[in-house]
Amino acid sequence: MDTELREGIHWVGYVDWNVRDFHGYRTKSGSTYNSYIVQDEKTAIIDTVKAPYASVLLDHIRSHTPFDKVDYLVVNHAEPDHSGSISAVMAACPNATLICDAKCWKILGMHYDTTDWPHQIVKSGETLSLGKRTLQFLETPMVHWPESMFTYIPEEKLLFSMDAFGQHYASASRFDDTEPLDVVLHEAKTYFANIVMLYARPIRNTLAAASGLDIEIIAPSHGVIWRKNVGAILKAYQDWTHHKPRKKVLIVYDTMWKSTEMMANAIAEGVLESEVDLRLYNVNASHITELATEVLEASGVAVGSPTLNMTLMPQMACLLTYWKGLRPAEKVGFAFGSYGWSKNGGPTEVEAYLKEMKFDLVQPALHVQFVPTKDDLEACRGAGRLLAQKALENHTRLHQQEEI
Ligand code: FEO
Repeated sequence: MDTELREGIHWVGYVDWNVRDFHGYRTKSGSTYNSYIVQDEKTAIIDTVKAPYASVLLDHIRSHTPFDKVDYLVVNHAEPDHSGSISAVMAACPNATLICDAKCWKILGMHYDTTDWPHQIVKSGETLSLGKRTLQFLETPMVHWPESMFTYIPEEKLLFSMDAFGQHYASASRFDDTEPLDVVLHEAKTYFANIVMLYARPIRNTLAAASGLDIEIIAPSHGVIWRKNVGAILKAYQDWTHHKPRKKVLIVYDTMWKSTEMMANAIAEGVLESEVDLRLYNVNASHITELATEVLEASGVAVGSPTLNMTLMPQMACLLTYWKGLRPAEKVGFAFGSYGWSKNGGPTEVEAYLKEMKFDLVQPALHVQFVPTKDDLEACRGAGRLLAQKALENHTRLHQQEEI
């Protein structure tokens, strides 16, 4: 396996082919925990791997250098998928000094016994010479935790970007030019939607702060290393962090006796009268991971739930709770659904979620009692037409907006 990013700079991480759950995110393609070694007059390790795979990381490091030649362990992020093997590395490497920012040191102390770890706190703009190469640090708060940091090697135009630009994607090769680009970009989008959509603004600020860096390689902490398609992933992050949607309407519903499903299908018929892409999901047919990815680039969203026990259906509550945390922004939409005898149930509660997420509601919630009539279905078609029209207007507005 080719692991060389530049001469003397190698990937030494772990490919986790079989991980399928990442704190609720269904990682159907597995993942990797990327660690790197930079060998110069001094040697630095950049980040570690999940704790169970520490021995693999140590084997990889040992294949490049004796442990007593490791001078630095740079910790860009304290989350355990990257910090879990710090204890093993610090124990194995007697001359290593841990390098991190102040917040990271504090958070590491809440996870591990850091008492005996030699360490050096760095701040944005500070540098550390390894000899011919320099490590330059850039604090990137909330990308993805408060202590996150990028490490950049100007002489190699190489950015270690930690979670940013990552993908939960296990593969035989370590580089973007030896994997199918459409698959890798889709995994990067899924990763963005499910891990960092909430932090779009801090990421935007980080991209602005990093815009002066000359970058030829982006080495994230998960998935493949970007060296051929750096422009493509940077452009994708520009769009995602600025909430630039596609001309797309997403309809998600749950149903009990098919009434809300009939409404969803009629709304879809109305949407399809316009030139927009449409995605129609029964919430039970897909995992919330996929539905978070779908909402990221949707411009218009209709969400339906019948009333069950005077509230919304539980799987829809699960999805909307997940979305609420991830905060998909700049959407237009409306709620819909059927009820039996308690009108303030499913659709009303769905609408409350949409309001909380600051969706621009194109119309009040559509309620149908028991089974939709012909007139009810025509009203649903009308709502679909209106949603498509508003989604297109929203698309135009967001794509004309200045990127600030
Ligand atoms: Fe991959 Fe935020 O850790």
